[in-house]
Amino acid sequence: MWTPSAKLAAVQGALMLLGAAAVAGLVAMGGRSGAIAGDGYQGPYGFGTPASEAEIAAMDIDIMPDGHGLPPGSGTPAEGEAVYQRNCAPCHGANLEGSAILGADRLIGGRGSLATVEPIKTVESYWPYATTLYDYIGRAMPFNLPGSLSADEVYAVVAYILMRANIVEAGTEMNAQSLPQVRMPNRDGFIPDSRPDVFDYN
Ligand code: HEC
Repeated sequence: MWTPSAKLAAVQGALMLLGAAAVAGLVAMGGRSGAIAGDGYQGPYGFGTPASEAEIAAMDIDIMPDGHGLPPGSGTPAEGEAVYQRNCAPCHGANLEGSAILGADRLIGGRGSLATVEPIKTVESYWPYATTLYDYIGRAMPFNLPGSLSADEVYAVVAYILMRANIVEAGTEMNAQSLPQVRMPNRDGFIPDSRPDVFDYN
């Protein structure tokens, strides 16, 4: 007869069976992974292959403040205007004014506003290194298609933004040599943080 206590006993029995199966499974897995490792395989699941030089190069795209890592290529503000209107203006606006609704930052203006009660943080007013523009746009923009621009297109759109920010002249070509030479307006606005950090306690 099916009573509550019989039901409880059945459930307990089923749980014990499950427990036994789980333990047996663990033992089997342990034994198997040991055998695979011993045979020279990388692991029990067969995941992972050594990254090729090309795969590493595709991810090794960081650009240092001094320009280290900048690729070959070049672009002018005039070329960059076309790149900008096609790939960036839909979000950042035809005049680089940004869009609050889309969360796309205003890119120019705000110079001298950082220490006021209404600071306007833009590439022009805030960023200390021009090379960061290449790094950021190259890896993260356009927001909907990051990594889709060629090196020439990134140099060109960087040149265009710097020209619209009145940081470089209209005819200036940006490349791996000229971009690190650009001095950003807020270059000296950052100070070393003198508070002790964790390294002092080691
Ligand atoms: C689909 C919308 C979209 C498009 C297209 C787009 N952006 Fe952006 N952009 C954003 C958003 C959103 C952010 C803010 C991202 C964040 O804060 O993580 C941003 C941030 C940026 C910033 C950082 C600004 C700052 O002060 O931090 C730069 C520079 C930038 N975009 C440049 C570009 C350029 C150049 C293009 C064209 C090649 C482009 N974006 C295309 C949406 C877009």
